[in-house]
Amino acid sequence: MKVLVVGTGYVGLVTGVCLASFGHDVVCVDQDQQKITMLNMGECPIYEDGLEPLLQEQLLEHRLWFDTKISDCADFDIALIAVGTPPRSDGSADLTSVFEVVTELGNKLKQGALIGTKSTVPVGTAHSIETYLETMGRRDIRVVSIPEFLREGSALSDTLQPSRLIFGVPDDESLRVLKQLHSPLDVPIVACNRSTAEMIKYASNAFLATKISFINEIANICERVGADVQLVSQGMGLDPRIGSSFLRAGLGYGGSCFPKDTRALVNIAGDVAYDFKLLKAVVEVNQRQRTEPIERLRQWFGDLNNLRVTLLGVAFKPGTNDIRESPALEIGERLRDHGAQVQFYDPVVTRFWLQKQESVRVMDDPYVALQNSDAAIVVTEWPEIVELDWIRVGTIMRGRFVFDGRNVLDPVALERAGFVLENFGFHP
Ligand code: UGA
Repeated sequence: MKVLVVGTGYVGLVTGVCLASFGHDVVCVDQDQQKITMLNMGECPIYEDGLEPLLQEQLLEHRLWFDTKISDCADFDIALIAVGTPPRSDGSADLTSVFEVVTELGNKLKQGALIGTKSTVPVGTAHSIETYLETMGRRDIRVVSIPEFLREGSALSDTLQPSRLIFGVPDDESLRVLKQLHSPLDVPIVACNRSTAEMIKYASNAFLATKISFINEIANICERVGADVQLVSQGMGLDPRIGSSFLRAGLGYGGSCFPKDTRALVNIAGDVAYDFKLLKAVVEVNQRQRTEPIERLRQWFGDLNNLRVTLLGVAFKPGTNDIRESPALEIGERLRDHGAQVQFYDPVVTRFWLQKQESVRVMDDPYVALQNSDAAIVVTEWPEIVELDWIRVGTIMRGRFVFDGRNVLDPVALERAGFVLENFGFHP
């Protein structure tokens, strides 16, 4: 099949490369000239395990092309929209880019082509796109919703071996085309109407975010009653009805998806006069988790003015260079507001990102970053951080206070190295 993917962010790029690897002819379009030049040279603008070699392979096989313009649309069977849907100030999704793309596709796509939304869009968007296309005189184009469930850091395996495919379709013919597009995948398919598909995406992310905020509240109680939240998670997770994933307590969720999608779903509910109380609390708990390290530092040190604090980890989670909604940046900013001197260590983020935010000091050697610090805060559980030699750290840090925001440091080892370790209810 001939596939057009518009937008080469995480979702668009991974989708395009994977669809090419299924044997389709794929053109990926993005208005960012620099990115397209890089991609055409086989260089990946994002850090994602295994993506660059697969991209290069598809380029060599002449199944994948990158362009800055949707120049010639005559051939495409399906166009997938994977452009950004950034949150507005009220939390609702901004669909400006989506509709700009739809306008262009409405003018250019061949008779009977499909348009699919891959971006996370508010429930009802596929229907709105269809109505909009009708006003352009394009009743022949069918609009489908194919939400994406890939995680950053394991995007490739999530796309090549997904847990399920959700196809929101208006008719059987569209379903047939989507099955053909994904024919190499032997996984459960849920075929449904488009609003249902759009809701499955939001509900999935909101539910996972709820698990995280739930265990974080349990951790906060564990902290006060002397229970060990790690074992509580383990004990709960062994019940198959609960499941062990997304029960890691800590600084809470960040990234480009959970924060945005939870707020958007609260909004979607509000639009139909429903007060989604549970999800509002999930968002609030997540926000509160980020204030905890500062509170602990204040309890320990009193005044934070001129305190040297090293934040270990900048990416919102390990395995990615993505810093969107990363707790590290917010905590760093708050610490600076209190007069602290802040520096960061991250094994990956430095290379990609330092130039853009000159006020933030990011180092690529943890021992250099920790030199003469009064306190350290673990923000991202990179292996490089989990496996730090704390005896060595003890010889270079000025102070002895460590806050483990991800419950990954061994309290016994830290104590042996002479540190005061605090965390979120991890009391083995
Ligand atoms: C998430 C979903 O997991 C994907 O299924 C979805 O496709 C994607 O959003 C999206 O909507 O595009 P992602 O944001 O890449 O993927 O990252 P996750 O691995 O889900 O982690 C999200 C956040 O939750 C991270 O900040 C992580 O540190 C945090 N987390 C995760 C916890 O605090 N505790 C946990 O137990 C698990």
